[in-house]
Amino acid sequence: MNDIVKKRLILGVTGGVAAYKAAELTRLLVKNGVEVRVVMTEAARHFVAPATFQALSGQPVLTDLWDGPAANGMAHIELTRHADAVLIAPASADFLAKLVHGAADDLLSTLCLARACPLLVAPAMNREMWDNPATQRNVAQLKRDGVVIIGPDSGAQACGETGPGRMVEPATLAEDVESYWHPKLLAGKRVLITAGPTFEAIDAVRGITNLSSGKMGYAVARAAIEAGAEVTLVSGPTCLTPPTAAKTLSVTSAQQMLEAVNKEIAGTDIFISVAAVADYYVLNPSEQKIKKDAHILTLELAPNPDIVANVMNLPNPPFCVGFAAESENLYEFAEMKRKRKRLPLLAANLVQDALGSEDNELTLFDDDGAHPLPRAPKIVLARQLIARTAKLYHKEKGSK
Ligand code: PMT
Repeated sequence: MNDIVKKRLILGVTGGVAAYKAAELTRLLVKNGVEVRVVMTEAARHFVAPATFQALSGQPVLTDLWDGPAANGMAHIELTRHADAVLIAPASADFLAKLVHGAADDLLSTLCLARACPLLVAPAMNREMWDNPATQRNVAQLKRDGVVIIGPDSGAQACGETGPGRMVEPATLAEDVESYWHPKLLAGKRVLITAGPTFEAIDAVRGITNLSSGKMGYAVARAAIEAGAEVTLVSGPTCLTPPTAAKTLSVTSAQQMLEAVNKEIAGTDIFISVAAVADYYVLNPSEQKIKKDAHILTLELAPNPDIVANVMNLPNPPFCVGFAAESENLYEFAEMKRKRKRLPLLAANLVQDALGSEDNELTLFDDDGAHPLPRAPKIVLARQLIARTAKLYHKEKGSK
């Protein structure tokens, strides 16, 4: 979020056990630079005290229709006129029903009715309450009314039962809300992204790999989702959780990555090759663990297929974006690589800046020259890369 104008969110907390998660959500949003005003229903106050939200948001918490700080006494109108969105998290079954009917019997329901900004809700309730036709009818009606429904997740519930109805986890909710505010530069476009390292087996337990963590590729996937794209992520082995909105295919070797890309490429508008693909694989890897002895062990290596070159050689290739990881002479080597691979856009970085780190420094190369992007968190750079990609893609297609 740090790269876009500060947003203002009204966080409505209704009565449910998941109210405790709204405290963590507040902390994450504030940390990301969002101004959060919390409004609680009376039922919510049975689960978490307003003081918790006040401390985390640094703003007074509003609970009552009659004692708002607005000079004209109309907090329900005043508040939403300055907000970029209202998020209800958790949203109880009762509150969803109130929204459907336009009830206005407390501050939160009244401000939802009086709002002039988007409304997002994250339902949280017992699985039977969620599955009940009344709730499903209410959710369908809210969608028709233009309300954005986030979740719920499925899993173990506070009541001891298991099923759908858990509130989406705070970190994911914070991402979803921030995504909602980003310009939809790639709305409806299909984007295929490779990320992470590949692992080339030597024997049953050993292999050749590299230091890519997948962070840059996953950030690019997230930024493409934020931009409204339908994203498929082909990922080598990483410890990261893929964005829930992406279709993710996990692979190990370069050959498997190539096969996954070939399987998904039809209908792809944009291909972004962030993966650090191993340049060589081991010929005849042993199925069993190789026993240690005193002799020198020689491995025979053969070149792996070049995945991005394969995509570029298709009869109708998508718009292709490559990456270049160099340890020296960044400008010279990156531009040579872009020309050799015939890529319209290439993002270059120094391995010592990029591998495994949270921040990076990228230089984008295209037909207009080099565009250095200053050091920043990978998600910030990924958003800048997606903005440039969208601009060049639409220019090439003559679509915007
Ligand atoms: O994962 P992180 O820890 O966040 O680190 C990010 C990163 C450094 C891995 C990333 O920013 C990056 O630079 N990725 C490309 C790494 C790389 O393999 O660069 P290359 O110069 O060897 O390859 C050039 C391009 O060809 C790349 O787009 C690569 O994905 C592609 N390639 C390379 C070899 C191959 N066999 N097939 C390919 O498609």
